[in-house]
Amino acid sequence: MGIMTATGPDTGASIAAIGSLDELYAFLSDHAYEALWTMENALTRQPVTTMRPYIWRYRQVRDLIMRAGDLISVAEADRRVLAFRNPGFSGRELARATDTLWAAVQMVLPGEAAPPHRHTPSALRFIIEGEGAYTIVDGARVQMEAGDFLITPNWSWHEHGHDGAGAVIWLDGLDSPMVSTLRQMFAEFEGAPQSKTHVYSDVLRSGYVEPSWMDRAVFSTLVWKLDDTLRAIEELRGEQGDPYDDVIVEYRNPQTGGPALPTMSAFMQLLRPGAKTWAHRQTSSTVYHVVRGTGYSVLDGQRFEWEPGDTFAVPTWVSHAHANPTSGDALLFSFSDEPAVRALGLYREQKAA
Ligand SMILES: [Fe+2]
Ligand SMILES: [Fe+2]
Repeated sequence: MGIMTATGPDTGASIAAIGSLDELYAFLSDHAYEALWTMENALTRQPVTTMRPYIWRYRQVRDLIMRAGDLISVAEADRRVLAFRNPGFSGRELARATDTLWAAVQMVLPGEAAPPHRHTPSALRFIIEGEGAYTIVDGARVQMEAGDFLITPNWSWHEHGHDGAGAVIWLDGLDSPMVSTLRQMFAEFEGAPQSKTHVYSDVLRSGYVEPSWMDRAVFSTLVWKLDDTLRAIEELRGEQGDPYDDVIVEYRNPQTGGPALPTMSAFMQLLRPGAKTWAHRQTSSTVYHVVRGTGYSVLDGQRFEWEPGDTFAVPTWVSHAHANPTSGDALLFSFSDEPAVRALGLYREQKAA
């Protein structure tokens, strides 16, 4: 095949020969143009998404991931991850729970190990059930038990293993749809640092004190224990609380003083017995996970009943209110793309009047 030679663009006479708008549009589409005035709804008055409010029921999720455990090993699967694919998402790319957030359950069985890798998407994990599994982040090992919240920042090496008994299941949250939309996806599978078997304490991990001869990254694995979070919430139980979220606390990153990750924030909220919050909506999107209790959320007018282990998606600009009609506590874990949306100057909130 010969070298392609660029011929000069059609100009002058061929353009003068365009006799109608239809011919103009045909010419434009043949030559890599588009007329803005033919586009409908390029600018909408409010954020528009095809993503829908949706709930994945743990009764089914658990059965499915356990069944997957019978049928495929981590050695074969690399990671045994069942992603929540929003039914409003029709793209062929990576699944997503909202436009910007990946949510999934991951399971490891005793003796299994998911090999190390690192990637530009950041990850967070909330342990749903089990104990005895561990994660190694940049060589530092952290045990994982039910209720723990931990992060794997952008480009940190991570691998998972399990030397306890019984299945360990956790919720994964990643900003990968966002990272992929920005075409910033990189990953590496070889060259992970030698892992330490020592488990560093929170005081070293938080950066409160730091050994000057060691790489800071060794301590970057942050884990927040459920008991600590619950103690903080308990102290606040008697306070007024937030009318939209009741007694809500954000997981703050002690190394930065900011949100858990640059792109994602995470929260735990107590809906006290009888709590019924007011509705609001934000340009950020959120994934909720029910830790304890039963109740319901009203998402764009539709009522979704929930129970422990259920995960539900609140896409951008979806109005939401939560209720706990029972006499016991309800606890919701959630993560959102709010820090990324804020950093871009795009954050808006509308509160119900
Ligand atoms: Fe990963
Ligand atoms: Fe909210």
